[in-house]
Amino acid sequence: MQICARAHPNIALIKYWGKSDLATNLPSAGSLSVTLDTFTTETTVEEAASDQLLLNGEPGGGQADRVFRWLDACLTQRPPLHIDTRNNFPTAAGLASSASGFAALAVAVDALLELGMSDAQLSVLARRGSGSAARSIFGGFVRLDLGTDSNSTVAAPLLDAAQWPLEVVIAVTQSGPKETSSGEGMERSRKTSPLYQAWTECVAADLETARAAIEQRDFAALAAVSEASFLAMHAVMISSRPGLLYMKPASLAAIQRVRELRRDGLAAFCTMDAGPQVKVICLPESADDVAAALRELPGVVELHRVGLGRGAHLVPA
Ligand code: PMV
Repeated sequence: MQICARAHPNIALIKYWGKSDLATNLPSAGSLSVTLDTFTTETTVEEAASDQLLLNGEPGGGQADRVFRWLDACLTQRPPLHIDTRNNFPTAAGLASSASGFAALAVAVDALLELGMSDAQLSVLARRGSGSAARSIFGGFVRLDLGTDSNSTVAAPLLDAAQWPLEVVIAVTQSGPKETSSGEGMERSRKTSPLYQAWTECVAADLETARAAIEQRDFAALAAVSEASFLAMHAVMISSRPGLLYMKPASLAAIQRVRELRRDGLAAFCTMDAGPQVKVICLPESADDVAAALRELPGVVELHRVGLGRGAHLVPA
């Protein structure tokens, strides 16, 4: 029997950067995100004679080790599995392919092995593979709060995509895989950044501000707190030793341009993750103008426009 699941990446508006427990992949603070549409991971699993992972049609290499170690750590027993996972967007380039990847896998493996997990349990399973994957179990606006332990640190939906259909313009400033993986980067920041402690302490208040802004559909308030969160995360990255410079000159140019557009009255703000791409969250009526302005920037090599989408779900194999 083959089972297929589909999931979309998500973009954090209130960021997570750092873990308090590596064994259970427990984040040191909460986070809040939007799940995208259009960018899709589709993962097919079936029982096999031995473990095998194909990533976009090629043997998974290091990713295969990571995936099977994760499954062995989370499940008491399992048969050998053949996993075929495909992304319709660049993998490991700061476009959150690990979020959609682990979310799709969690849903597919749960169905294949008839584990009967709840959405909350699927979110914990996905989180143990990749912190941000916990959020891709759900669609629309999603919040992840720290619980008292690993099993209670789980994402939950705040609003469906249709309840506030924002658009996201993604400016790719450099294609190809990222320089330092987020897992390695987070550990470096935790161990060496003098700003790390202050960073983890400011997240709870930012989460509350963002939650209230979303509830009230207050775009300006969401823009202010989201921009502050991503810049603070990059301050922690940059202040790590040696510094993590995910931001490139073209990323900075895009951020400056979006700030100008906002001053001119457009509803748009930027966020960035562990890579040089700039994601611009927009009200739908501003997205055309934002895309046109970013297309003119010399450092922008590719532009994508996506909406908000649904959580991970099964599809016919
Ligand atoms: O899912 P991970 O463990 O690779 O972490 C992703 C971290 C950021 O994308 C930088 C921020 C976030 O909250 O998604």
